[in-house]
Amino acid sequence: MKVLFVCLGNICRSPLAEAIFAHRAEKRGLEAEWDSAGTGHWHAGESPDRRMQAVASANGIPMDSVARQVRPTDFEEFDLVVAMDTENLWTLRSRSDTGHHGKIRLMREWDPEAAPTDVVPDPWYGGPEGFNEVFRIVDRSVQGLVEAIERGDIPAS
Ligand code: 4NP
Repeated sequence: MKVLFVCLGNICRSPLAEAIFAHRAEKRGLEAEWDSAGTGHWHAGESPDRRMQAVASANGIPMDSVARQVRPTDFEEFDLVVAMDTENLWTLRSRSDTGHHGKIRLMREWDPEAAPTDVVPDPWYGGPEGFNEVFRIVDRSVQGLVEAIERGDIPAS
């Protein structure tokens, strides 16, 4: 199972999802591979946002990814492409063949506390509480995703 987490900049939400997924998958011996990417190119080559890193680190999660933009080959290579919000979802669909649209899903589908259309909010322009809120949302969602993979609910494509 190869999972790609996607947001806009690839410096806040999706690298956090990648780091939490890596932490949980390694702890549970889950057979999976993972990466993250941004729909935008502006932050390619950068480390994760310091505010996001600080919250992750305070919760025992190291973030060490380098930002990159989504590539056309990602839709072939990954079994599951997890968008943080609906704008990311529509951008990903617009850049991929319809045959791949089924594997593009929203992160909060696996958040037990979310309504069906809830998204992971963009914390970029907000204050520190936004980053804590993003951590709680992504942590719950990733836990739900790991459990879904363990149950065999996500087909490898
Ligand atoms: P991310 O957050 O999509 O969670 O990485 C953002 C990072 C940068 C910008 C927007 C969102 N930006 O406008 O530069």
